[in-house]
Amino acid sequence: MGPGPGNLQASGTEGAGVVAARTLPPVDTVRAGVRLATDADVGAVATMVAAAFATDPAWSFIIGPGNPRAREAFARTLLMPRIGRGTAWVTDDCTAVAMWDRFAVGGPVDADHGARWAAFRDEVGEHVWARLEAYEAGLKAASPARPYWYLGVLATHPDLHGRGLASAVLRPGLDAADADGWDCWLETSTPANKAFYAGRGFTDAVPVDVPGGPPTWWLRRPARH
Ligand SMILES: CC(C)(COP(=O)(O)OP(=O)(O)OC[C@H]1O[C@@H](n2cnc3c(N)ncnc32)[C@H](O)[C@@H]1OP(=O)(O)O)[C@@H](O)C(=O)NCCC(=O)NCCS
Repeated sequence: MGPGPGNLQASGTEGAGVVAARTLPPVDTVRAGVRLATDADVGAVATMVAAAFATDPAWSFIIGPGNPRAREAFARTLLMPRIGRGTAWVTDDCTAVAMWDRFAVGGPVDADHGARWAAFRDEVGEHVWARLEAYEAGLKAASPARPYWYLGVLATHPDLHGRGLASAVLRPGLDAADADGWDCWLETSTPANKAFYAGRGFTDAVPVDVPGGPPTWWLRRPARH
């Protein structure tokens, strides 16, 4: 078991520990056209996410440099179950996406989970698959205790950063977590993202050890009641 939300350790690792929250202006989700993602969005969102994560350290560790087709396959495989569960939000033109999971205690696993990831493994090959397993094992060893809302993917088209689109697509998941009174968690391997997330309430960081992989942190947004 990883550390529960009450057992977070601030360590000397760069960037670990508690980061001060900042106050941001309210985000206009209506103006950004935020809505639930549908099956019709899969292609556009996968292409956008592959571009957004083109140089992400964790994706580059798992997939290697370049290889946009594998990045798109990864994005598709991550997106489709969240569409089914109603926990993926996009801007109307698919220029930004937030993919969440509501991890209840003992929550059910999708019937097609195994088949989806088997198809991904066939598509990308054993080398990528082994890296993904190594990354997942590192995360799992430090994973938070359920229940919590997990932000699996947040991305904005690279040409449209800094316009509030990620802040807008994040909002429904944060509101859902607040309605449950649960923590939110995500993991990142990009130190620059920690300031962005601190501004959205993710103020606690827990280092994750991914052998051979990039420095990675779980970030926690404490429950609001
Ligand atoms: C991280 C990422 C999702 C941010 O997306 P974004 O759409 O640029 O984010 P936003 O525009 O909402 O916020 C970025 C900045 O714009 C500012 N901003 C500009 N206009 C805004 C508005 N109308 N409303 C809210 N914020 C606005 C925000 O204040 C924010 O600045 P801050 O971080 O200093 O607070 C994006 O950089 C990305 O896709 N990166 C690559 C993938 C990635 O790393 N994803 C996260 C993985 S953990």
